[in-house]
Amino acid sequence: MGKDVIIACDFASAAQCIAFLDRFTMEKPFVKIGMELFYAEGPSIIREIKARGHKIFLDLKLHDIPNTVKKSMAVLSALDVDICNLHAAGTIAMMKAALEGLTRPDGTRPLLIAVTQLTSTDQAAMENDLLIHAPIDQVVLHYAANAKAAGLDGVVCSPLEAGKVHAACGSSFLTVTPGVRFADGDVGDQKRVTTPAQAKALGSDYIVVGRPITAAEDPVAAYRRCVAEFVD
Ligand code: C5P
Repeated sequence: MGKDVIIACDFASAAQCIAFLDRFTMEKPFVKIGMELFYAEGPSIIREIKARGHKIFLDLKLHDIPNTVKKSMAVLSALDVDICNLHAAGTIAMMKAALEGLTRPDGTRPLLIAVTQLTSTDQAAMENDLLIHAPIDQVVLHYAANAKAAGLDGVVCSPLEAGKVHAACGSSFLTVTPGVRFADGDVGDQKRVTTPAQAKALGSDYIVVGRPITAAEDPVAAYRRCVAEFVD
């Protein structure tokens, strides 16, 4: 898969999500479905969106004992999603078990990427709550290296970290990057943002874009603008 724009479909119901996707008559965007919509609607929303021809990043961020993650990943793999994810903090053993669970009898599997440290976790929280005393940049790169060692395909990170991740883990190790805003758009609650064009220049493989598209007056035009800046 080449560079692409993934729309974060952070909607509370299937009806809202489908109404949004109905606006796209000319293209089939890659979409990200997160916990809110999946827990509200269950696997049927994944089947419905897949049947409509979209690629899906199912963003459920698994983190449990290896056996449970392995079995859960097998369930998600059977839904025929394109990307799944987990927390690298679950250890290399958990990540390896996840890959085993994801791999279908015919040898195919969805891509698997890891969350390193959540962007909501800062140095102080890491030190005080988690007793991790290394600098956060080093922790992020260490977790990325663990994900690579386990055989994963990449990590979720900021476009601002994409270069360091590629330098440490190789250019084919995927960087899937949220925190993207148009130069003339609202930043909202995101702190360290880049434009789609900057994310491209920094080497992101996929940008994850939510509100700049979902809350736009013309979401299709906003999506096309992202594609024009990031992919074309
Ligand atoms: O609306 P917005 O473009 O901020 O959406 C970004 C999406 O990426 C949301 O679904 C958010 O949960 C997700 N995300 C993020 N930062 C991370 C990991 C995931 O913004 N570090």
